[in-house]
Amino acid sequence: MRNNITIRTKEKNYLIQIKINSIKNKLKKIIKNEDKVFIIIDKKVDHLIKDLSDKKNLFIIRFVGSEKIKNYIFFQKITEKLLSKGIDRKSCIISIGGGTIGDISGFIASTVLRGVKFILIPTTLLSQVDSSIGGKNGINSMYGKNLIGTFYQPNLVIIDPYVLMTLPIKELKSGYAEIIKHALIYDSSFFKWLESNYNKIFNLNFKTLEKAINKSILIKSKFVQEDTKEKLINNDSRAILNFGHTFGHALETFYQYKKKLTHGEAIAIGMMIASKISYKFNYLSKNDLIKINNHFKKVGLPTSDKNMYNTAIFSLIKKDKKNIGNNINLVLLKKIGKAKFSRNLNIKKIKKIIY
Ligand SMILES: NC(=O)c1ccc[n+]([C@@H]2O[C@H](COP(=O)([O-])OP(=O)(O)OC[C@H]3O[C@@H](n4cnc5c(N)ncnc54)[C@H](O)[C@@H]3O)[C@@H](O)[C@H]2O)c1
Ligand SMILES: [Zn+2]
Repeated sequence: MRNNITIRTKEKNYLIQIKINSIKNKLKKIIKNEDKVFIIIDKKVDHLIKDLSDKKNLFIIRFVGSEKIKNYIFFQKITEKLLSKGIDRKSCIISIGGGTIGDISGFIASTVLRGVKFILIPTTLLSQVDSSIGGKNGINSMYGKNLIGTFYQPNLVIIDPYVLMTLPIKELKSGYAEIIKHALIYDSSFFKWLESNYNKIFNLNFKTLEKAINKSILIKSKFVQEDTKEKLINNDSRAILNFGHTFGHALETFYQYKKKLTHGEAIAIGMMIASKISYKFNYLSKNDLIKINNHFKKVGLPTSDKNMYNTAIFSLIKKDKKNIGNNINLVLLKKIGKAKFSRNLNIKKIKKIIY
């Protein structure tokens, strides 16, 4: 198994290092070699930096990660704090936390002083298999999730499955939903492997977890490298990674990010809706549809929500930055392991067939 994965993009090539129990040593080395280091960390993983507080060139900003911090207020608060502590262009920002801390930190790293060095240390399964890969960052607007942000590749990503020891099972499942997504869009044998190994992942068998993380990153990085800025060129486009996210994001916005659903739960429902549409369009076989549904049920991810076909959900989808007028773009499945980007689908027709 490759423990180091190189991501090659037009802007930057960088390394993703996956290793159990590696964070403390790596952090020490980075702080020793860098000029000034600014750590933005989730309080829930504060133990990871316990021995570092005496370092003179280190400044630490602590938050509890949640969707609520991905906004203008925190963006301003953190940026001003960095400036007040003398951040300069040779400084390095390190984000240690889940996808929310990573997303806002990445946005700040790309904008403060027009961009400084950025290292990501993801501490949730979701951020290890998804949000830390590919250089997307951002904050939310009242009009929807992630509407403000940049593409900014990090200089390094350090992934340590051992940090997941403290992660609640609900959050572990949230990350697992993105792993299933990667299998569904690209790799049917990976999906089969997950069907027989998901239990070991939830029991934190680190070897199995490492393999699932590794495989997932390789799939995501394939799409990212083909199309770093999501130009929707073809079926290898980065947009394929949005499978399940059209309805998933709408549900999250509908609930105002109030923790009713985790990101993974929302996209699990979104993936089920997209799979049903794929079946109704005669792309996906009934057998595959049942397999997908059964797997979600077995692992305890939701496949429906009482509000998923609410009119407000369709209005939110129409507002999505990727859609124009009454026509929407959707990622559908041809079969387990193969996705298809469908443009300009009429929202009224979609509504009719899924009711
Ligand atoms: N940039 C991208 O490409 C991309 C891709 C997918 C998702 N995202 C974004 O990622 C975010 C979701 O990420 P997330 O699920 O990691 O959310 P999160 O950052 O809110 O973390 C989930 C919860 O786990 C806690 N936590 C973090 N690490 C922990 C640990 N090791 N032990 C115990 N608790 C821990 C956090 O405090 C929080 O309560 C969303 O905002 C989503 O939009 C971005
Ligand atoms: Zn996602």
